Amino acid sequence: MHLTHLSLTNFRAFSRLDMALPNPPGVVLVVGDNAQGKTSLLEAVFYLATFSSFHANSDRQLINLLAAQDALSVARIVAEYWRSGRMHRLEVRVILDSVGPTGRRLRKEVLVDGVKRTVGQAVGNFLAVLFLPQMMQIIEGGPEERRRYLNLALSQVVPGYAEALSSYQQALQQRNALLKLLSERGGAVEQLDYWDGLLAQHGATILLARMNAVQEMERLAARIHLRLTRNQEVLRWIYQPAYDPLPQPEGQYKLAIQTPVQRLGFTYEQLRRGFVERLLALRNEEIGRGVTTIGPHRDELRFWSNGLDLGDFGSRGQVRTALLSAKLAEAAWMHEKTGEWPVLLLDETLAELDVQRRADLLESQDEVQQVLMTTTDLKLFPQEFVDNCTVWWVQNGCVTAGD
Ligand SMILES: Nc1ncnc2c1ncn2[C@@H]1O[C@H](COP(=O)(O)OP(=O)(O)O)[C@@H](O)[C@H]1O
Ligand SMILES: [Mg+2]
Repeated sequence: MHLTHLSLTNFRAFSRLDMALPNPPGVVLVVGDNAQGKTSLLEAVFYLATFSSFHANSDRQLINLLAAQDALSVARIVAEYWRSGRMHRLEVRVILDSVGPTGRRLRKEVLVDGVKRTVGQAVGNFLAVLFLPQMMQIIEGGPEERRRYLNLALSQVVPGYAEALSSYQQALQQRNALLKLLSERGGAVEQLDYWDGLLAQHGATILLARMNAVQEMERLAARIHLRLTRNQEVLRWIYQPAYDPLPQPEGQYKLAIQTPVQRLGFTYEQLRRGFVERLLALRNEEIGRGVTTIGPHRDELRFWSNGLDLGDFGSRGQVRTALLSAKLAEAAWMHEKTGEWPVLLLDETLAELDVQRRADLLESQDEVQQVLMTTTDLKLFPQEFVDNCTVWWVQNGCVTAGD
């Protein structure tokens, strides 16, 4: 899969951008000084895959600041891309409307091949994998970073995942509000039945997808990691679902955490029913605490290498390599599941890597069809590599192609 054309209107610093991408696809090197718009360009492409920004707190920040002063302002991303033997068109509009004398309302419109779709329906048409320097947080940061990592990948590939996720979040909010109410004021606890059912219905979809995907991605990542570390490090991904369908070990002795656990083979119905039962068993405790204590919103995923948890004990270099493995595995997994390679977006990752990893990364890009990578310094790349790339110069929200 690859992009053939990208145009932006009022997207961050780009008031207008119109770029054709090289065909046949290859590597586009986006070069420019700091604060010129390189990351924003990758952000726009990633937005086509996930319809969410990786660092904006709100979509509103995506709209060009000047344009946002108008009564009606629209940030627009339009892409033409090739997938499964034909061209497609994807358009996203982030719209800031005026409502009443002072109010403003933000909404999003997505068109796939000219037809309006919800975000949930549109996700999965365009596939992308993004690698930012700050993504070391996936391994070193809090569990929400890892859930987000899984969610962004799974939403693109697993049918129904994005919709289940948003329905789950809504049900969770309602359920938590009710738990709080019951804990503060009391009331009929049977009111929870409905929300338990809804939470389990969507939670089971998420859980099933994560259990399968983690096992599949781990296999790919471990193989890549062995190669990147010259057979020195055995990588493991350890998924710890907060509602775990496996029976808990007796006597509260937790299994040694790196013990391989077999969670495949559960059916959706088993997970859903098990989740409801567990919620019922925890009901009094959860009313006491006023929050939902189990479910995919509390899942954890740990990265281990040679028997050590990288989040706690990994060196900078080890974490970086494990992240590189994870990102390349994500791309390979998407290819395995869909038959299409995602567009790979690498933001200044090369600057962070040592010479060997840099070479490894450049080499492993051969498989992927299209890569957009940013850099402030073209000299980080071997000349023969640059010769085979398309170079885009970015300056102050304008892009010019050429050497
Ligand atoms: N909504 C916006 N409107 C106008 N300018 C913006 C907006 N959001 C970000 N910018 C500006 O865009 C510039 C480019 O940011 P970025 O893409 O991160 O640059 P780079 O990656 O090249 O360092 C920054 O100077 C930032 O202030
Ligand atoms: Mg940047």
